[in-house]
Amino acid sequence: MHSNSTHYEAALLGLGAMGAALARAALAGGRRVIVWNRTAARAEPLVGAGATLAASAAAAVEAAAVVIVCVTDYAATLSLLADIDLRGKTLVQLSTGTPQEARELAAWAATRGAHYLDGAILAVPSQIGGENATILASGSEVAYAAAEPLLRTTAAVRFVGSGFGTAAALDLGVLSTLFGALLGFYQGARVIEAEQLPVDGLGAMLVAVMPAIGEMIRNDAEAIHHSRYAAPESSLEICWRSMELLTRQAAEAAIDASFARFAAGQFYRGVAAGFGDESPAAMIKVLRAASAQKGAGA
Ligand SMILES: NC(=O)c1ccc[n+]([C@@H]2O[C@H](COP(=O)([O-])OP(=O)(O)OC[C@H]3O[C@@H](n4cnc5c(N)ncnc54)[C@H](OP(=O)(O)O)[C@@H]3O)[C@@H](O)[C@H]2O)c1
Repeated sequence: MHSNSTHYEAALLGLGAMGAALARAALAGGRRVIVWNRTAARAEPLVGAGATLAASAAAAVEAAAVVIVCVTDYAATLSLLADIDLRGKTLVQLSTGTPQEARELAAWAATRGAHYLDGAILAVPSQIGGENATILASGSEVAYAAAEPLLRTTAAVRFVGSGFGTAAALDLGVLSTLFGALLGFYQGARVIEAEQLPVDGLGAMLVAVMPAIGEMIRNDAEAIHHSRYAAPESSLEICWRSMELLTRQAAEAAIDASFARFAAGQFYRGVAAGFGDESPAAMIKVLRAASAQKGAGA
């Protein structure tokens, strides 16, 4: 099916793993969408599922008031939109980027007469359309009002403020937490393997304790927010000792110790700075001081 002058609820530009999942969920939610991808062959399964394929990105944009982009990065977004008329459109960027990139794209969109919403997808493609998918959005409230009905068919959508960089900042905060945890998990998996235990058992157990871990992280965030580090339930020194234990186990089992050494080294910086009996959240003071020194030296 190819585009004609019919009006669509949204144009979806970019049908990689994530863009295709968004389009599929929107179609399943009964939305009329027009799609485009640089490599047209990738659109075929979606056309089979009811999407209209535009002959060009410009044709897709022309056919819809809401334009949702999900490509590799902001540079790809700018290159594909460069020569397209965006006057009066709502532009939603769902490609991952930095807060500064979001602000720059918002400023660029304003010069092109578009309302801009920056979004961040907190899910993998197979989760899109399901109960565990979240999209953070920030920027123009007008753009949010226009895009929200479609976005909500793909994920739970949370408008996190009018700052164009806010969604990207929260996204990077989540990604840092996630990938930090994943590196720790891989070390944990080696501990389990060294004991000839099944790694999937660790995975299942982690799901069970995730609410408790989430609560600990939230408590740390509160401590940082209120600068409240004294009389902790569990001290920074205990974190350092736990990571030292991981280092010792790695030596005993002759497994890679790089993560364990890194984590122990980080917490040791907090102990050496005199924060050993404070909350682990006191690590933020070590990182702030390091930024200040770097800034002063620069
Ligand atoms: N996958 C995930 O788990 C996940 C989760 C959260 C957020 N995201 C974000 O979603 C975005 C897309 O990820 P993905 O997993 O869909 O990546 P992907 O499968 O690698 O797809 C990349 C998409 O970008 C398009 N593209 C790249 N450069 C382009 C250009 N210069 N002009 C036009 N189109 C261009 C590709 O088109 P072709 O098909 O022609 O190459 C393709 O549609 C990324 O920013 C990613 O960080 C992904």
